Amino acid sequence: MKKKGNKILSGSNRYHFDRKWKRTHRCGELEARSEGEQVRLAGWVKKVREFGDLTFVDLWDRTGIVQLVVDAGNPDLHALAGSLKAEDVIAAAGRVRLRPPDMVNAGMKTGRVEVELGDAEIFNRSKVPPFNVTDKSKANDDLRMRYRYLDLRRDSMQRNIGFRHDLALAVRNFLSSRGFLEIETPLLVKRTPEGARDYLVPSRLHPGKFYALPQSPQLYKQILMVSGFDRYFQLARCLRDEDLRADRQPEHTQIDIEMSFISEEEVFEVAEAMIGDLFSRIKGADPGTPFPRIDYDEAMMRYGSDKPDLRFGLEIRDLTELFAGSGFQAFSSAVKEGGAVRGISFEKGVAFSGSQIKKLESVARDAGAKGLAWIRFQGGAIESPVARFLTKPETDGLARIFGIDESTGSLVLIVAGKRQIVERSLGTLRTQLGTAHLLDGTEGFRFLWVNRFPLFVEGEKGWESAHHIFSMPLEEDIPFLDSDPGRARGHLYDLVCNGTELGSGSIRVHDRNLQEKLFGVIGIGKEEAENKFGFLLEAFEYGAPPHGGIAIGVDRLSMILCGESSIRDFIAFPKTQSATSLMDGAPSGVEDAILDELHIRVEEGKFRQ
Ligand code: AMO
Ligand code: AMP
Repeated sequence: MKKKGNKILSGSNRYHFDRKWKRTHRCGELEARSEGEQVRLAGWVKKVREFGDLTFVDLWDRTGIVQLVVDAGNPDLHALAGSLKAEDVIAAAGRVRLRPPDMVNAGMKTGRVEVELGDAEIFNRSKVPPFNVTDKSKANDDLRMRYRYLDLRRDSMQRNIGFRHDLALAVRNFLSSRGFLEIETPLLVKRTPEGARDYLVPSRLHPGKFYALPQSPQLYKQILMVSGFDRYFQLARCLRDEDLRADRQPEHTQIDIEMSFISEEEVFEVAEAMIGDLFSRIKGADPGTPFPRIDYDEAMMRYGSDKPDLRFGLEIRDLTELFAGSGFQAFSSAVKEGGAVRGISFEKGVAFSGSQIKKLESVARDAGAKGLAWIRFQGGAIESPVARFLTKPETDGLARIFGIDESTGSLVLIVAGKRQIVERSLGTLRTQLGTAHLLDGTEGFRFLWVNRFPLFVEGEKGWESAHHIFSMPLEEDIPFLDSDPGRARGHLYDLVCNGTELGSGSIRVHDRNLQEKLFGVIGIGKEEAENKFGFLLEAFEYGAPPHGGIAIGVDRLSMILCGESSIRDFIAFPKTQSATSLMDGAPSGVEDAILDELHIRVEEGKFRQ
């Protein structure tokens, strides 16, 4: 540090912030009762307007905008104000005065006042921004990401990031008040399987070895239960190398929770109370606790989805019995082959054109269906490409099952085939039709629990775990682990809201033998289990309590509560669809010397330009 009085420093304050500009207020704080006060503000210029001798400058900081005004009687300041451009960052001092009545802007927090500029300093000019930094700007995503620091200055992003802060704070307070401890778990871990690929970190000290970045704190939180921390939580960063979508990022944050000596009831209760608390703080409303619960099998039957959107009905009905002996081959043979015939009835579809129906057909086909049979009930008559195969008892049956009102009519959509395909295709149709035609924005939030998921799904190489392999089977399904793993259901649940999976959890296995049995189903033998999870299995032998938990995605929860459709708007620095950061250029190559230290060689020519 240079001594005080040193010539170099005693001159201008070009590079340092001069304390004389220490703010007295933030821009959005000024109101009528501040009239007459001398204030100092700092922020970014949003707009400059010149009217004759008067120049108006809109000054912004994250609390709001306030209008500065200067007249030509102060020529230097007037010239300075006139030279300002959007996004210049300045300090301003002056006196607060009331605006003349005809200049009051009722739509603005500070709209009754303005600051009569007495002094100002430009800290830094801004280049012409690549897009207008307002919510109205239509900048494309790449540009927004490349200049994320400007994008974050927009009102909606400021609001979203602030919302996320409020949410995290409320969660921490709530869980702390319930006796949960926040405990950090490591970022450099041994692989923690959650079904995605790992991000790996090479070890310098252990050539050829890698840490993984955690896909979740799953194993650590279970081990914390063994250690007696019977109520744990963490706002945990989780990293997964997976294909990205609007609700998936390579890094996300979970409200990660684990508890000992509990059943799933306690997990539901804590999660419901936490969301109830968030709702009352943030939205001033009740989210409808306790949330309805539905078993996975029933969700698939009624909604064709494990994350049903309950904001609309449009329930799927089983028509297998009705069409078991149908003259329409596609129906009867599906039944004969052990499949299903199911359908939905969509009243508004009665007016659909041929091309609208064609689109529905291709949606069904894209989801795997062989076709989509449609039947229009209208004015007591029916119209359908398969009409000639249908008997009167069958069409009467449809009208009865769907409760079709003759005066309104309806469009019935039917798929026959393998049960999973029928579920998937009708589920997709239901979601698309409901989202496009049955929502008007007043539905609010429809939370639910989907419980008792199957433990295993059939993959290319045999059984895979549907969630993660640490979930407890239902007692009555334990025999299926040997005989028919596909039928084994678990104490395995998702929290769903408006068609989005917000959270997932389970009661865990805490017994070494049962855990080894589950590993066996997915082809992990004793030796591999020992290698990969020996530490967990061993911990189970030292007094592991019964335990379970849940993790709720912070990014998704924020998105849903704010009625948005992308989690990127709730993450300050998200990645693009291809997992890059356009702002800083990650991922990037590194110098050979660094690679050498890490014992890594990158193939010349193949991956290097
Ligand atoms: P799961 O893998 O289901 O469970 O994740 C829990 C929740 O985290 C959120 N989430 C994501 N959000 C954004 N981008 C992603 N790529 C992403 N992946 C997951 C979702 C999801 O519901 N250890 C278990 C939890 C447990 O069993 O306690 C786990 O991680 O909102
Ligand atoms: P096709 O006999 O294949 O010409 O089909 C006649 C109608 O039945 C078309 O509208 C098809 O989309 C429909 N269809 C065909 N297969 C199925 C099926 N598995 N489930 C429902 N509808 C089907």
